[in-house]
Amino acid sequence: MPQLSGLAIIGSGSAVPPAYLDNAGLSQLVDTSDEWISTRTGIRQRHLAAPEESLCSLAAEAARRALEMAALNAIDLDLIILATSTADDLFGSASKIQAEIGATKAVAFDLTAACSGFVFGMVTAAQYIRTGAYQNVLLIGADILSRWTDWSDRRTCILFGDGAGAIVMQAAESDQFLGFELRSDGSQNDCLTLAFQPQPQPLTQGISVGQGNFQPIQMNGQEVYRFAVKKVPEVIEKALFRASLTVEQVDWLLLHQANQRILDAVAERLGIPEHKVVSNMGNYGNTDAASIPLALDQYVRSGQIQPGDVIAAAGFGAGLSWGSALFRWGR
Ligand code: ACO
Repeated sequence: MPQLSGLAIIGSGSAVPPAYLDNAGLSQLVDTSDEWISTRTGIRQRHLAAPEESLCSLAAEAARRALEMAALNAIDLDLIILATSTADDLFGSASKIQAEIGATKAVAFDLTAACSGFVFGMVTAAQYIRTGAYQNVLLIGADILSRWTDWSDRRTCILFGDGAGAIVMQAAESDQFLGFELRSDGSQNDCLTLAFQPQPQPLTQGISVGQGNFQPIQMNGQEVYRFAVKKVPEVIEKALFRASLTVEQVDWLLLHQANQRILDAVAERLGIPEHKVVSNMGNYGNTDAASIPLALDQYVRSGQIQPGDVIAAAGFGAGLSWGSALFRWGR
């Protein structure tokens, strides 16, 4: 078989936990209101995983749906990338998902880049396909941020929700992956953290180790807002330039679903009209690495996104990290 240097995105799937908490329910936990949350963020409710639900089971459900849409058997997968910041196991969860869906021939690993994880994962997957190393790649974005949210902090707990989304990327003759631009700036790392806090534990004379827990999400909301609105349009414009595409040729702006105000501001800066902006955060909140594939899958299954549509996706978040990926939906 000749080596194919292009790739196509041929299936999507998603899954969220059944339980959800609306803004009225949240107002019983912290001093806030539906009005405040809706007008500042666009979020009305978020799905939350129960203690017995795992990231692996949510991710596997999304993966099975994506494979079904792609008409591909799990056994034919060569690679599985799990973009997550909330793995069930710090050693990684991708292998467990590989076993759960029966993708016995695939190599599997986790990739962590917070809310940029899915876009970073797409670009990583694309490199493996372009070099001819792998033909069929499953990319999952999944997070259970509710495990790490401080439910007494009204500045952060209103934002986050749990979920999983997945896509199947496949080697193809005609290339549907049009361009990308990835960036990191660790000097602003403390704007958004879910950090390990070690407590000294003396072992023997002169030797101590640090043991402890991860601290709940800490965020400087205004800094993150300013960063997103300034940096996201830049990486989209750069990727468009590289792909020799104009903003007018973009059918859908598919941003990380953090805040409706960020989506509106980025779209305005780029000159992209409202009807081309993908938005589903009202029902899910910010689901971290899951938010882009979750929204993509919803728009594909509702028939809004059609084969051949040009999608400008961009993620941004902790790291700080941000990046864009341009692609055409479908074979
Ligand atoms: N309910 C009611 N009042 C609140 C709430 C709340 N939930 N949260 C904050 N307030 C109050 C504050 O105490 C403050 O009151 P004060 O003026 O009396 O001190 C006032 O509202 C304004 O607070 P700000 O923090 O300035 O509110 P802001 O307008 O910046 O909105 C928000 C906060 C929504 C978090 C905004 O900054 C934002 O969206 N930032 C981007 C955050 C984001 O998207 N993060 C995730 C991206 S990365 C990732 O996904 C991991």
